[in-house]
Amino acid sequence: MKPLYCVGNWKMNKGPAEAKAFCTELKKQVRPGEAPYLVVLPPAVSAPTVSESLIGSGVRWGAQNSYFETKGAFTGETSPAFLQEMGAAFCLVGHSERRQIFGEKDELLARKLSALQAVGVTPILCVGETLEERQKNRTQEIVLGQLQRGLALVNKDQSFWIAYEPVWAIGTGQVATVEQASEVHTMIRQSLRDSLGEGARAVPLLYGGSVKPDNASGFTKCPDVNGFLVGGASLKVEEFLQIFRLSNPS
Ligand code: PGA
Repeated sequence: MKPLYCVGNWKMNKGPAEAKAFCTELKKQVRPGEAPYLVVLPPAVSAPTVSESLIGSGVRWGAQNSYFETKGAFTGETSPAFLQEMGAAFCLVGHSERRQIFGEKDELLARKLSALQAVGVTPILCVGETLEERQKNRTQEIVLGQLQRGLALVNKDQSFWIAYEPVWAIGTGQVATVEQASEVHTMIRQSLRDSLGEGARAVPLLYGGSVKPDNASGFTKCPDVNGFLVGGASLKVEEFLQIFRLSNPS
C-alpha cells in the first residue's frame, strides 16, 4: 500500500524566521523515502524561505490560498503564476476558514482551482459540513454539492487533490470517528468515479480535523483515506513526523 500523505497547514503561523527553523529541523529528521509524502503549507510571506530551505530535501510545499487572475489590479492577492514561479507544488482551495471568515463561494473556488491547474500547481479542494448540517443529516448534500461546484471547471487530465474536513472537527480536538470519515471518503470517491471513471482512484483524498499522533493510525483502516491535512499538530516537527510514522508503520 502507498504511504499516507501528511500535509501540514500552518495557517497564519510561522513568519520567515520560524519557518526556516522548522524546515532546517525537518530536513535533519526526515528519513529517506518519507519526503515525497510530506508537504508543508506556510503563510505566503514565508514561502520564499521555505522554498529555499527545503531544497535538496524532497519535501514539497504549497500555498494556503491564491486568486484566479494572473496579474493586475487585485490588491492583496496572490497569482497562481507567482506561486508556480516560486516552486509551489500545491495550493489549498476553499479551506473552511476561507469559506467562513472570508466568504469564499464555490463559484470563485472553481475558478481558482482551474487557474492553479493551468500553471501546474496542484489544487487541494477542501470540503466539509458544519455541525449543524451534520445534525440535520445534510452531510452528503453539502459535501457532494461543494465537490461538484468546486470541480465545475476542473481539468480531469491534470492533478488535483481533495481534503475532507468536517468543520466541527477543525481546531476543536473533536476528531471524526474512523466510521464517519470512512463513510464520507467512500462517498467522495464514488462521486469522483461517476465523473472521472477509473481515473478517480488516483485522486488523493485527505482527511483533516484535529488529526494528532494519537488518532492518526486509526484512519489507516479506511481504504479511501490517502493522507491527512494537519493544522495544529503540523507546527512542531516531532509531532508532524510522528503522525506520518504512526500512520505508516514500516
Ligand atoms: P486542525 O486543522 O488539525 O488544527 O484541526 C486542520 C485544518 O484546518 O486544516
